[in-house]
Amino acid sequence: MERLIVFRHVRAIDPSSSLDAIIDVVIENDRIVRLGPNVGAEAAKADWAQVIAPPPGAWLLPGLVDLHAHLREPGQESKEDIRSGLGAAAAGGFTDVCAMPNTVPVNDSRMVTEAMLSRAHEVGGPRLHPIGAITMGQRGEALTEMGDLREAGAVAVSDDGRCVTSSSVMRRALEYASVFDMPVIQHAEDHALTEGSQMHEGSVSTKLGLRGWPRVAEDIIVARDLMLAEYTGARYHVAHASTEGTVRLLREAKSRGLRVSAEVTPHHLLLTHEAVGLYDTACKVNPPLREEQDVQALREGLADGTIDAVATDHAPHGILDKHCEFAEAKPGMIGLELCLPLLLGLVEQGALPLNRLVESLTHAPSSIARLPDKRIREGARADLVLVDPEERWTIEASRLRSKSKNTPFLGRNVKGRVKMTLVAGNIVFNGGS
Ligand code: DOR
Repeated sequence: MERLIVFRHVRAIDPSSSLDAIIDVVIENDRIVRLGPNVGAEAAKADWAQVIAPPPGAWLLPGLVDLHAHLREPGQESKEDIRSGLGAAAAGGFTDVCAMPNTVPVNDSRMVTEAMLSRAHEVGGPRLHPIGAITMGQRGEALTEMGDLREAGAVAVSDDGRCVTSSSVMRRALEYASVFDMPVIQHAEDHALTEGSQMHEGSVSTKLGLRGWPRVAEDIIVARDLMLAEYTGARYHVAHASTEGTVRLLREAKSRGLRVSAEVTPHHLLLTHEAVGLYDTACKVNPPLREEQDVQALREGLADGTIDAVATDHAPHGILDKHCEFAEAKPGMIGLELCLPLLLGLVEQGALPLNRLVESLTHAPSSIARLPDKRIREGARADLVLVDPEERWTIEASRLRSKSKNTPFLGRNVKGRVKMTLVAGNIVFNGGS
């Protein structure tokens, strides 16, 4: 045996295994071999055992899975690269990260997918799962070789950052992707309705004199795509849902048994367009921050399972991309290291059940990406995250591992901290040391 790790007296929480109990968890090499009250006592005596006595009240959760991150490699490594992005992921409790294809060049080929995977392999840490583009160059026209992308290791296809606006291209994409059992992840934005837009269309955009991005530009695409998903029987996934209309449409589609899914970001669950204040570029994001009624609908949709997963939409940008006029600023904010602590605030307020939060960051995204299931049980791969739900800390740029610090949450006090992340029994983040 190469490795023996013993967690003693930790609250293990895994809703998909109906587990919530204070137990010991014993890991040999890459697997959980035993779990239960006091089952670690013997193993802990071995002189090669690494015995972990978690802080009182600490939680052990299945490793988190992010369905939507921008790691910027290849092409924009000054913002982030695979090493720094996976380092940030580990610090955020993520064991698996799906990387969007809007790199330079676009990940629309086997070659880019393979290069990303081999880089991730060199770097180690959390696993990287590339998402291939739907169309060549994300131009919305010719479809990519999806079979090639799948074979090379892509888990889904998306033109994220751009919407597939042509109904016929979208139809063919759904049909083609379903041959390889890949979900088509749509960035739902009718570009004709959002041309020149800077933020949500509403009272704040009017006050600031900025061109608005109306909700209906998202709803129209989601409504059309749900019809196409029904027609083709393919797997369809809505990226970064942001409107109450999207939630309503998804609820109706799911009630009729369609094979559709959706994700929501922490920022769309926590902030409204009011956060833009006086042109705060940190709050410029696509889709934009919306209104209270949208935030409420998204929270309810996540709580009742209409929205399956939480995804970060981690979008690193350099200082000059944000320290400029609002109209020139790039949209997006980082999220990998802040997702769990920020959303634990919603749990604390009673706005989201803890079980749903855990499920939406573990079991739900891993089943959408068809990754090996995340479970805390005997025989399962030891992908785990240890969290101290009581630790209070302040989000500061100097504490973040991501190369970019573009987040409006700097200075915010949060409660709950990732202490340790394990990928297949390897400790890839140890915040305690
Ligand atoms: O805010 C965003 N930033 N939304 C996207 O869809 C793309 C992303 C990026 O790549 O920066």
